[in-house]
Order: sequence, then structure tokens, then C-alpha cells
Amino acid sequence: MINTAILTISDKGSKGKREDLSGPQIIEFLTEFDGEKKYYDIIPDEVEIIKNSLIKLSKRKDIDLILTTGGTGLAKRDVTPEATRAIMEKEVPGIVEMIRRETAKITKKAALSRAKAVIKNDTLIINLPGSPKAVIECLEIIKDILPHGIQILKGEVTQHS
Ligand code: MTE
Repeated sequence: MINTAILTISDKGSKGKREDLSGPQIIEFLTEFDGEKKYYDIIPDEVEIIKNSLIKLSKRKDIDLILTTGGTGLAKRDVTPEATRAIMEKEVPGIVEMIRRETAKITKKAALSRAKAVIKNDTLIINLPGSPKAVIECLEIIKDILPHGIQILKGEVTQHS
């Protein structure tokens, strides 16, 4: 079981001006990697708000994984990677490298996401792009490695099989 927080990062979504489809899409996908929803919220594209949310959630003992969606692109208001980088203890570049490399086979626009994967307070934080289609494409790539990664992070597995 991977206890998961889902954070949709969207100015319009947080004001109720756009229905969030990506957050619910992630929640639906959780069963694919034995994930359990522990938290879900929509917050605006504000660095300080994103940082505070990530720090608060990473401190929770009942959350092992935070999946964000949105704000990873090239627009002025896209600041999710900067907020994630600002609070990180360690970077996990292989996760986002693999996502970009593999999903670029579906759409070359995958290269337009600046998503980060990092560790904070023994919690894995992964940025996903904002579209419902993109979140599924990206999660499909990493669903198999998430359980082992989380087990190692939590110190539950010390030897590699
Ligand atoms: N990655 C995948 N796998 N599939 C996609 O459709 N969309 C791209 C990219 N990553 C996409 C993707 C596009 S069009 C953009 S602009 C960036 O993600 C950033 O999206 P965001 O700003 O909503 O986070």
C-alpha cells in the first residue's frame, strides 16, 4: 500500500473556474500501483503556497508519495518545478528522465514538461504535467517501480532482489 497525496496545481482550478480532471484521473489510477488516497487538494500556481503544501504533506507520517499535477510547463505562471526544487533534500532524476524519454514516444511535447522528482522528509514527490491524458501516460511508465522505490525510501527493503 502506497499512501498518496494528490495535489492539483492550477490557478483556474483553485478558483473553481475549471473542473479538475487530472486529480481525479490520478486517484482512479492509484489501484494500478496499490496506492491509497490520503489527501487531495487544488492549489494555485503560487511558489510559496506550493512549497508550504509540499512541506506540510511531506511531514505527515501517513503519506509516502505526493503526486502533483500541473504547472510544469513554460508559461510564466508555471512554477511547480521551482517550488519542488526549493524544498527538496535529494533529487531523483531517473524517474522524470524515464517519463520524458518513454512518453516522448507518444508525444514529443513530453519534452515541454520541466517536472522534477525529489525526496523530502522520507516522502517521494513527483511532478506530473497538467493534462488528464498526460498524467496517465506518465504514471503508466513508473507504476511498476513505485512500490520498490517507496519501500527503499521507508527503509523496509535493504537488499535488492
Ligand atoms: N507528457 C505526456 N506524457 N503527455 C502529454 O500530453 N503534454 C506536454 C508536457 N508533457 C504532455 C506531456 C505539454 S503540451 C506541456 S505544455 C507540458 O507537459 C507542461 O504541462 P503543464 O504546464 O500542464 O504541467
